[in-house]
Amino acid sequence: MGGHEEEAGGEEYLFKIVLIGDSAVGKSNLLSRFARNEFDTNSKATIGVEFQTQCVEIDGKEIKAQIWDTAGQERFRAVTSAYYRGAVGALIVYDISRRSSFDSVKRWLDELTTQCDTTVTRMLVGNKCDLENIRDVSVEEGKSLAEEEGLFFMETSALDSTNVQAAFEIVIGEIY
Ligand code: GTP
Ligand code: MG
Repeated sequence: MGGHEEEAGGEEYLFKIVLIGDSAVGKSNLLSRFARNEFDTNSKATIGVEFQTQCVEIDGKEIKAQIWDTAGQERFRAVTSAYYRGAVGALIVYDISRRSSFDSVKRWLDELTTQCDTTVTRMLVGNKCDLENIRDVSVEEGKSLAEEEGLFFMETSALDSTNVQAAFEIVIGEIY
């Protein structure tokens, strides 16, 4: 079985998953929604690296997902190689109401490819789908980019919880 970094008694798995994408797309809020069911309207830009561990049950097995979150802003980022080291999954996040964040996806994918094994399970995430009234990137555009690049795809909202659990669980389930 590929991907597990740590195995205890054959029953416990620890998967490292990284969140990447431009600043303010909602990476930290996706993580806090998933791990603690919390959302912060006034969240500050992340400085350095943070991670949280969340347990998920798949096929009756307990899986620990260690999800890493870093700054989208270059000047606040920590050493890149350490961030990606050992990752078996990645969520590449953009904001559906901000096209520039979608245009950056290719750059984030390039970095991921440079830093990680090609076997990393990757999901493209269009976050803030609650902002339908100011949508700047269509669902179709997201889907077709994902198809082109061989990524899973999902639109999410950390604000109203749409698909947050599902996005993480698909990545974790695929790794497992
Ligand atoms: P960096 O740490 O700078 O890389 O940013 P980030 O990607 O972690 O973004 P963060 O989670 O801090 O969210 C940025 C802003 O977007 C905050 O004001 C959030 O409240 C808001 N936000 C995050 N997710 C959503 C969402 O799903 N919908 C809406 N409407 N706002 C969101
Ligand atoms: Mg952040």
